[in-house]
Amino acid sequence: MAHNPLDKKSQAWSALFSEPMSALVQRYTASVGFDRRLAQADIAGSLAHARMLAAQRVIPAQDLADIERGLAQVAQEIETGRFEWKLELEDVHLNIEARLTQLVGDAGKRLHTGRSRNDQVATDIRLWLRGEIDAIAPLLVQLQRALLELAAQHTDTVMPGFTHLQVAQPVSFAHHLLAYVEMFARDAERLADVRRRTNRLPLGAAALAGTSYPLDREAVARALGFDGLCENSLDAVSDRDFALEFAAFASITMVHVSRLAEEIVLWMSQNFGFIDLADRYCTGSSIMPQKRNPDVAELARGKSGRVIGHLMALLTLMKGQPLAYNKDNQEDKEPLFDTVDTLAATLRIMAEMVGGTVDAATGARSGGLRVKPEAMRAAATRGYATATDLADHLVKKGLPFRDAHEVVAHAVKLALERGVDLAELPLAELQALHPSIGADARDALTLQGSLQSRATRGGTAPQRVREQIERHRLRLAPEAAR
Ligand code: ARG
Repeated sequence: MAHNPLDKKSQAWSALFSEPMSALVQRYTASVGFDRRLAQADIAGSLAHARMLAAQRVIPAQDLADIERGLAQVAQEIETGRFEWKLELEDVHLNIEARLTQLVGDAGKRLHTGRSRNDQVATDIRLWLRGEIDAIAPLLVQLQRALLELAAQHTDTVMPGFTHLQVAQPVSFAHHLLAYVEMFARDAERLADVRRRTNRLPLGAAALAGTSYPLDREAVARALGFDGLCENSLDAVSDRDFALEFAAFASITMVHVSRLAEEIVLWMSQNFGFIDLADRYCTGSSIMPQKRNPDVAELARGKSGRVIGHLMALLTLMKGQPLAYNKDNQEDKEPLFDTVDTLAATLRIMAEMVGGTVDAATGARSGGLRVKPEAMRAAATRGYATATDLADHLVKKGLPFRDAHEVVAHAVKLALERGVDLAELPLAELQALHPSIGADARDALTLQGSLQSRATRGGTAPQRVREQIERHRLRLAPEAAR
């Protein structure tokens, strides 16, 4: 068996060291406990690098064959859980390289020609994150679809729209849901944008300055599906903007999720009673038998804090680093991994809680958000949501808006005293407040009339909302259906 310098970690980088690393330092500096998650990307990157080295005649064809054979076995050992990860070997890169060398000898030791762990790890994270981005994009689509299909059933379901959490004007429940579709659509755009800057190849930067070997970086980029190269070697090994951008995208998305979750919690409370959730998404209380708690929504809201925290951690990690690579960068992984996991799990469960699930056998959908239109309508009525409509009615009769506003304030006061809705005030009493109030004021005062009238583009009128639903459906349709 060939001498393998990686067998003894104290000698992994050079014979310069006169004593082995202390056990404490070994544990403190090792990342293999978490960065083994990059193994697949690491092997893909190594294969592309080795093939390029052989094509450029930096290593002989036989070495490439050995490396390919060895890495195939390493990949298989990892997949089947038989790979022996060693803390002494610090990280995923050295673990894989050591095992490769154990399997194929000198060829394994030639793999690292013209490469450093600095450009290697930067390549691995980008490759890995690109895969995760491609898995998260469809989850965002799924959540938008769930909201959209629920909205399609509720273009005429009136609820109070709020400002300051006080009843403001009637809106349709569909319109309210579509606000979230807009948010998640922007998130999807941001994600696509993050992908473009993530998908560039650092490999070839070597430790920091480039390398003297005749590497073909473009070939490696093509082989790994990168859209381009990192153009400055110092930047290539030290840039983590793509991680920051991803965490920023994830934080904004989680803020949107959190707002929706907060509304679900509010809507499900007895005081609103606008919706109900299927039992499968609720938990009970160990002491209060009547309780059904919207834990999933609360947790989604809570987990936004964690993702925002990761963004802060990553920003802070980068802010003081001089060029180029510093060991600090090893700290990029855990926040990034947890951001991906938390976001993916949250998007998946929110989509399900809103839209329910489809039974594979029967095709029946169940478990989605249950809407209580009567409670929504009653809340809009109680809150005098159509007061603005009465003012608008007076404006149409020639009153300046400010005067109309004043007249309606008196009408609301009167209705409050009587304990009735605006539409229930006798016409004569309304006319006593202002003679211009006509018999047609009634129509403006109904919730449906109010809804219909807000027909500006982007407004809540059912026709406008149906157009928006159509637009979103086309946008989200699978490519083939377009
Ligand atoms: N485990 C390291 C990381 O995650 C790999 C790069 C180490 N490079 C070095 N020069 N020590 O960043």
